[in-house]
Amino acid sequence: MNFKDYIRVIPDFPQPGIRFKDITTLLKDGPAYRAAIDALKELVKDKEIDLIAGPEARGFVIGAPLALALGVGFVPIRKSGKLPGETVEAAYDLEYGKDRLAIHSDSITPGQKILIADDLLATGGTIATSIDLIHQLGGEIVGAAFLIELSYLSGRDKLQGIDVASLMTY
Ligand code: PRP
Repeated sequence: MNFKDYIRVIPDFPQPGIRFKDITTLLKDGPAYRAAIDALKELVKDKEIDLIAGPEARGFVIGAPLALALGVGFVPIRKSGKLPGETVEAAYDLEYGKDRLAIHSDSITPGQKILIADDLLATGGTIATSIDLIHQLGGEIVGAAFLIELSYLSGRDKLQGIDVASLMTY
């Protein structure tokens, strides 16, 4: 399956000059969504994984079904102020903006092997910050899996030493 056929590119969103990769056109197609999750599973199936962690919000629609497919748990990484329990937090830069990410302090046991999943690797800020939070809790990162990688933004450079898998590259 050519997954790019299911991605809609929207020019000048959310700012002039940005060509937004809209995954909703893939998500609404049941067989394509399933095939994308199966393909991501195939890319990471040889790894030892205890948990998948994914950042809000689009990381949930990739990370949670991937966790189900692999038979492991899912840990949400959320924007600050959303998680009800005790958290650790970190500030980060986005492709277009700034925010803070948070994770429940008790969501990972030290030594657990964590795969990070998200829809998109752009500048890598979101995932680098997610990795920082997981490291603060003693988790071990075994890789990062993405639906889409925007190679022209060089996000991989922020993820030195991390095994990065992506289904589509622009
Ligand atoms: C988007 C996307 C990734 C991140 C990628 O999320 O889903 O998480 O940006 O960009 P980066 O590699 O430059 O950090 P966004 O923060 O827009 O939130 P959303 O998923 O809630 O829309």
